[in-house]
Amino acid sequence: MTAATTGKAAGVRTALVTGGGRGLGRSIAEALADRGFHVVVTHRPQTADADATLQAIRQRGGKADSMPLDLADTASFPAFRESLERRLRDPRASTLDALVNNAGIGVFRTFDELTLDDYEESFAVNTRGPLFLTQALVDLMPPGAGVVNVSTQMTRQADATSLVYSASKAALESLSATLAIALGPRGIRVNSVAPGPTATDFNGGAMRDSEALREYISNNTALGRVGRPDDIGLAVAALLGPEMAWITGQRIEAAGGAFL
Ligand SMILES: NC(=O)c1ccc[n+]([C@@H]2O[C@H](COP(=O)([O-])OP(=O)(O)OC[C@H]3O[C@@H](n4cnc5c(N)ncnc54)[C@H](OP(=O)(O)O)[C@@H]3O)[C@@H](O)[C@H]2O)c1
Repeated sequence: MTAATTGKAAGVRTALVTGGGRGLGRSIAEALADRGFHVVVTHRPQTADADATLQAIRQRGGKADSMPLDLADTASFPAFRESLERRLRDPRASTLDALVNNAGIGVFRTFDELTLDDYEESFAVNTRGPLFLTQALVDLMPPGAGVVNVSTQMTRQADATSLVYSASKAALESLSATLAIALGPRGIRVNSVAPGPTATDFNGGAMRDSEALREYISNNTALGRVGRPDDIGLAVAALLGPEMAWITGQRIEAAGGAFL
């Protein structure tokens, strides 16, 4: 296998995972580190979670760093890119081979409850941020690199409280397919992964902490349980691997067959 088909240039491959300090992002970061990527996770002002991810990766012999990033603050993206580019000059980690737009927020309000701020914040973090972060970083990505946008299983399921959350993620899925066309000529793949309900802090930790909700989800899931972060981390890391080099422009649901 050649460098072009594996996406492996000289030096260690680097993966950027937004929101890699906890939940799905931490699992994705760890799975990518296990596959040999030097992983850079982003965090907001609080660094404790990101530090724990770095520690977990380094304890297993992997390489990891962290950088601050607020996805709602698109004006900060050029400076973020410059800072990342400086890191990539390090011969140990010279190319950005994977970008995982994982960070996201879940605003769950009905039509009657919804405010303009809910809408603006949801689209800023879940849709606008991933789009313009990809635009800011794409020139750092060599042929063979991959982008994964983390969406949700909820985009194919109408739910009264998931109004703006599902809409913002559906837009992200649409962008993913269009970006696959735009970036295909550069040899860069773009896919979306749509997790089902997974036990993290998300939505107030409901999928982790509410026995009633866990039972309801399990009873409506082909594989009979709520998702675990590693279910998603392993799927995302596999999608970014050389075995998946011909997969682009796809929405892949990692949900254990939830609500089929
Ligand atoms: N868990 C599920 O059931 C589920 C299902 C489908 C899809 N998803 C999607 O999976 C992704 C990860 O979810 P999760 O379950 O890991 O949720 P989580 O535990 O709530 O973590 C969310 C992550 O996003 C980061 N984040 C939120 N707003 C941000 C912003 N403005 N700028 C930068 N980072 C920001 C958080 O950073 P801080 O630590 O700084 O807050 C955190 O790292 C999200 O996109 C979510 O929509 C989750």
